[in-house]
Amino acid sequence: MKLLVVLPLWALFAVTQQKALSDDCQCELISSEKQFPYDKLKAAQDAALGCINTITPQKSAALDSLLLGLSRRLPQLEQDVAMLEKEDDGELFGVLSLHIIENELVEIQQMIDKLNRTNAESDRLSENVAQQLENVKEEMEELEKFDTMQVVKRQQANQRLKRDLDQCRNNGVFPTIQPTQPIGGACPHGRLVNITGPRVHTAGEYPGSYKYGAWGRDPKPEPGKESWHWRVMLTSSNRYAHYVRLYSSLSSLIVGISVPGNVQIHPSNPTTNTIQGPNVVLYAGALYYNCYNKDAVCRFNLTSKGVTTLDLPKGTRYNSKGDFCHLEECYPFTDLDLATDESGVWVVYTTTQDHGNLVLSKVEEGEPPKLSRTWRTSVYKRSVTNTFMACGVLYATRFVNKNTEEIFYSLDTTTGKESFKVGIFINKVSSDILFLNYSPVDQMLHMQNDAQMLSYKVLFQM
Ligand SMILES: *[C@@H]1O[C@H](CO)[C@@H](O)[C@H](O)[C@H]1NC(C)=O
Ligand SMILES: *[C@@H]1O[C@H](CO)[C@@H](O)[C@H](O)[C@H]1NC(C)=O
Ligand SMILES: *[C@@H]1O[C@H](CO)[C@@H](O)[C@H](O)[C@H]1NC(C)=O
Repeated sequence: MKLLVVLPLWALFAVTQQKALSDDCQCELISSEKQFPYDKLKAAQDAALGCINTITPQKSAALDSLLLGLSRRLPQLEQDVAMLEKEDDGELFGVLSLHIIENELVEIQQMIDKLNRTNAESDRLSENVAQQLENVKEEMEELEKFDTMQVVKRQQANQRLKRDLDQCRNNGVFPTIQPTQPIGGACPHGRLVNITGPRVHTAGEYPGSYKYGAWGRDPKPEPGKESWHWRVMLTSSNRYAHYVRLYSSLSSLIVGISVPGNVQIHPSNPTTNTIQGPNVVLYAGALYYNCYNKDAVCRFNLTSKGVTTLDLPKGTRYNSKGDFCHLEECYPFTDLDLATDESGVWVVYTTTQDHGNLVLSKVEEGEPPKLSRTWRTSVYKRSVTNTFMACGVLYATRFVNKNTEEIFYSLDTTTGKESFKVGIFINKVSSDILFLNYSPVDQMLHMQNDAQMLSYKVLFQM
């Protein structure tokens, strides 16, 4: 059978297995007894962390999504075969249908192969994790012996470590949803110290097709939609979009099976209140973005399909007059950058009266949405390639080279302090970052890097 299409399903899924520091399993054992084997406790703690980080929700979701894909493909194949039987016209023998079926078969074979590989990886992971847990348990038992000898005085901390281990054993495969934090509240994760990854790197459903776009997951999802992911592609002139594409999980987004599909803002693109520019975010079932041809934030409610607008201050630059840039180019229609963090939605922009410096405002979600506090910065927007918010701190990136971007600037909204010496580097796979946003649910950074979607783990330290 001739292979007519080779869909790059294989190439789409790359999850690196980097171990990450985390503030889980923090241990506060402080003992004056020198004999206590801190190194062993540290090793146990590290192993527990490894365990938490090895089984990611993505990996278990990958299986679900592949199975879903297969279960949708097989009935289609059956239908097509039935059609072919009916179409027997002697001469051409349903040549078109035959081609369709060939394609179907290729895709199905690829899915089965991938399922097989995912399964194998999954088995291997479970084995590793079981072994790791066993080791941790042994270490803990040994440490407990010291405990009975009164070496460890702070039982509490030990309890906490054990509880985290149990959590790891019982729900390691489920994401923990962090409660949202009020602005100005202390960051529950500590200080952002590094970015590792990419963890996920995928071209998604339309490889190479849309350079400009955004993707992510709703930090405050409606019940039942916790694992949903969304994608917005600027399908018209690299500037405009008019729908949100939904995927039931991260792996569905990776293999490109969009269920439940598109939610349309308007049938035409562009028109009043459709999307302009790539830096959009989904929060609490609503998409926040730069409204077409306006210095305003639009909020599109995916349930009611209604759009509310929020006018930005007079003098706000729009229609590609206040873009993100680096030395060689500016990214068109990046005037407004919407962002999410633990406290909700933010908007980053610039105005004429601020001479092109970044301005940050908190967006209050009410009906209608409003701006609350605003922070003016001393960083020139054209020297910045993108921004994101994490734990009430604004971070800005700049272009270093084709493979590297640097988080060079921060503004802490709690203290009002700016820093130009952040010095955290991000590995890219391609030159231009067209979208960057922080996901407070799992402390991941979502990026659109030219037409590719990447995600990174954000590391915090207390
Ligand atoms: C799954 O992969 C294994 C080796 O990796 C291979 O032996 C087996 O035939 C594969 N099964 C299917 C159904 O492709
Ligand atoms: C940050 O992470 C990168 C990539 O994992 C690593 O190479 C680098 O050493 C880390 N930097 C710090 C300061 O930990
Ligand atoms: C969206 O609309 C639904 C139905 O009218 C409403 O219950 C929900 O609160 C709205 N969401 C937002 C974010 O406004």
